[in-house]
Amino acid sequence: MYGVINKSLRDMVTEGHGDAVWDQVLAKAGVPSDSFLAMRSYDDEITFRLAVAASDALGIDVDTALNAFGQHWVNHTLVRDYDALVRSTGSTMLEFLENLNELHDLISTTFLDYEPPEFRVSELENDRMEVQYISHREGLNSFVSGLLVALSERFNEPMSIEAVENLSPESGTHTKFHLLMKG
Ligand code: HEM
Repeated sequence: MYGVINKSLRDMVTEGHGDAVWDQVLAKAGVPSDSFLAMRSYDDEITFRLAVAASDALGIDVDTALNAFGQHWVNHTLVRDYDALVRSTGSTMLEFLENLNELHDLISTTFLDYEPPEFRVSELENDRMEVQYISHREGLNSFVSGLLVALSERFNEPMSIEAVENLSPESGTHTKFHLLMKG
């Protein structure tokens, strides 16, 4: 995955736990150096190894670490580096998610050799929303849960994940997230 993703994971660990813990993560993951270039694509395996090593170093399970990383991506990386782009993508959770594929498409001119996921969103009755996540990758559902919860807070429409339904495609991931508006 792109260096921006690995860098964001590093920021989450160093901001919360310091540089020494990140050095442990690199050592555990067997990743020699963290001079990730933001705008270069790296093997997905590196991101997965870093996420597993980070969860190990922080004493939490991988899904908890991926969920925290999803929240960090929205609350820190997007706010810091992509605020204008995010703002122009939508002003409500629904509008933003409806335009998210377009956002990922739009940046494919700068991120070459890049394989973003696909999202399909529908509004259901009773303050519920269904978000389908489709990717050729596997193992990122908890990252997406963290992203969705943090986004809902960002739009001042706090939601919780009510159910996660794995549709088990032959390869990759196709998951339905059921979101419930809080309060
Ligand atoms: C301006 C904002 C954003 C930028 C610049 C951005 C950029 C990227 C980049 C560079 C990747 C790596 C893909 C690759 O290397 O092949 C990625 C992956 C991903 N993005 Fe975004 N993204 C943005 C917003 C979001 C948001 C708000 C979500 C929330 C749902 C999201 C969901 C994902 C997921 C789940 C992946 C993992 C790849 C996968 O599932 O296959 N992105 N994005």
